[in-house]
Amino acid sequence: MRRHTYALGGAGLLLSVSMLAIPAQELTGELPDPPEFAAQSEPNFVSVGDILEYKALPEYHEPAWVTSKYVDAGTLPPVAERLPKEPMVYKAGNMPDGIGVYGDTMRHVIGGRPEGWNYIGGQSQGWGGIDIGLSECLTRTGPLFTVKADELEPLPNLAKSWEWSEDGKQLTMHLIEGAKWSDGDPFDTEDLMFYWNDHILDPNVSPLNGGTPETFGVGTTLEAVDAYTVKWTFKEAFPTQYLYAMAYGTFCPGPSHILKPQHPSYSSNTYEQYKNAFPPEYMNIAVMGAWVPVEYRPDDIVVMRRNPYYWKVDEAGNQLPYLNEMHYRLSTWADRDVQAVAGSGDFSNLEQAESYVEALRRSAEATAPARLQFGARTIGYTLDLNLSGNGWGEPDARGQAIRELNRNLDFRKAVSIAIDRQRLGDSLVRGPFTAIYPGGLYAGTAYYDKASTVYFPHNLAAANALLDGLGLVDTDGNGVRNLANGGADVEITLLANTDYATDSNLAEGVIAMMEPLGIRVIANFQAGNARDDMHQSGQFDWHVRRQGSEMVSVVQGTSALAPTGPRIHAFHRGGSDGTVDLLPFEQEMVNVVNAFIATSDNAERAELMKQYQHLYTENVYSVGLTQYPGALIINKRFANIPDGAPIFMFNWAEDNIIRERVFVPEEAQGGYELHPETLPGAPGGAGPV
Ligand code: GLA
Repeated sequence: MRRHTYALGGAGLLLSVSMLAIPAQELTGELPDPPEFAAQSEPNFVSVGDILEYKALPEYHEPAWVTSKYVDAGTLPPVAERLPKEPMVYKAGNMPDGIGVYGDTMRHVIGGRPEGWNYIGGQSQGWGGIDIGLSECLTRTGPLFTVKADELEPLPNLAKSWEWSEDGKQLTMHLIEGAKWSDGDPFDTEDLMFYWNDHILDPNVSPLNGGTPETFGVGTTLEAVDAYTVKWTFKEAFPTQYLYAMAYGTFCPGPSHILKPQHPSYSSNTYEQYKNAFPPEYMNIAVMGAWVPVEYRPDDIVVMRRNPYYWKVDEAGNQLPYLNEMHYRLSTWADRDVQAVAGSGDFSNLEQAESYVEALRRSAEATAPARLQFGARTIGYTLDLNLSGNGWGEPDARGQAIRELNRNLDFRKAVSIAIDRQRLGDSLVRGPFTAIYPGGLYAGTAYYDKASTVYFPHNLAAANALLDGLGLVDTDGNGVRNLANGGADVEITLLANTDYATDSNLAEGVIAMMEPLGIRVIANFQAGNARDDMHQSGQFDWHVRRQGSEMVSVVQGTSALAPTGPRIHAFHRGGSDGTVDLLPFEQEMVNVVNAFIATSDNAERAELMKQYQHLYTENVYSVGLTQYPGALIINKRFANIPDGAPIFMFNWAEDNIIRERVFVPEEAQGGYELHPETLPGAPGGAGPV
């Protein structure tokens, strides 16, 4: 291993000592503005009421084959009886290409793998839009990118309306009435209460996207008033913020009639058995979403067919979705880009910067099968340092020593300024894409404030001096600093997700940049599901992580902006006794986030987020690496793709484009259906019927 400058003797030592005398603010510098990169199309801004309403229509329609093969044969009730009393109606005026036609398939390619179908029990379906298509939630946020900023409020979804009590502490929500799961079982408040009592409130269950009691506010209660009404009671007045937490992925109830008999509170199953009770081979899981899984071939494909009980229609009374089938090829995320650009796949969120140049080149050709449209810089990565000092993930002695370092501000600063962010970004892709990311809220988003952002530029000499000052010296001359008092080498494991080239490339970059700092970083690179497990259970020292939507929208996932509860935050959760050992500035961040949730005053909110940004970046809460724009790639045969749909804002593009409204004009239909003219079968059973 290369020796680093501070170990070279006299001169180096002198330098270190003099550096130590430099006041902290001199480590800061002017943050360069991100390179100009204009988003390629703008949304048409509308009101929520322009998009949808709930009402009964004089007549309803469905694909002709559903009537002739199922309804006429007596195996399925007529469509009017399958729909709720007042279905959700998408207004034609808001559909970019208007009322659609039935048929065809959207061919997704994904890099994840389904663990099983128990979404609310904590199992991943492999991402890439599978779970988004299966799960419907009380409210919906993906399409909010198109809602006027001063009218921003989550869209109704399973909850068709709500009202606040006069004192603002109670929220009464009305569910769609008479809607059914995809197997015909009634959807009602029993499903909501099962989710709330046996998943959110049960500490032994970790819903996949991290719903915990604090997600909805400490002390919040939920009760069923009747089959279609629930009442929330909050400690704060008018915490409208929680309406966002009731969207994907923290309040999307599962089918209680299927899941409840397997839950440990109602069976002799262990929690592990409950979680795994619906393996990938289990077909036709009952869903409220538009498509139901009907075929699974390991490492090959998941096929989903239209849900005959789907509860949304267009203004002409056509039951949605228009697309009969969904494919999820089980491949790699990089292959998703390649196939979408080539036309053998239909959809990709172009998000791995390494493939941008090639994807752009191909898509610019007149014969390109797909259109590619860049949005804002909403993809960003941080290096997270595990801040739990009280046992989250049960670290051994080495791990515990690293946690102590992670909790030290000078240490975090040293790590941060040892990183050359410009070089890191350029190593992914050259050009105007990547920007230096100091951490916290992204430049270009609504709540970002440059003046509140503290930036520590690359400064290796100062980084080394900071570590010298902490007594971390290379006592045995092997090029790696030792823990204070002649302890072991400073060895740190770095968790990263190998499903994404970008994650691994950035992690490799971090490892290389820590070498001249005298820190040995050991790659702990894991495939997606294993990475998720290690992350959830706190088994990491450091973690290179793509950021969640809270950093983009602030209003979605707000409570995860700081450790507001013991199971909510990405790199600081409760230890062995369940408490979070907050650092003083973290307590301030928690207060700021809670104050943000408690007010709906826009000026106050903007001010609070300035404080948040300052606390975050001044304390190097996590080490920002790079941020860049993503592009939506979608095959040209699809209609009703909204203008300016971002790949990631309140949610991923799979939600943003409202897939149940997307269609393929008849003349463009591709003949890709693998199970034409079939519907999902009985839960658990094999294949479509
Ligand atoms: C993965 C992909 C994203 C998006 C989401 C949807 O995380 O990387 O682009 O498709 O799944 O959940």
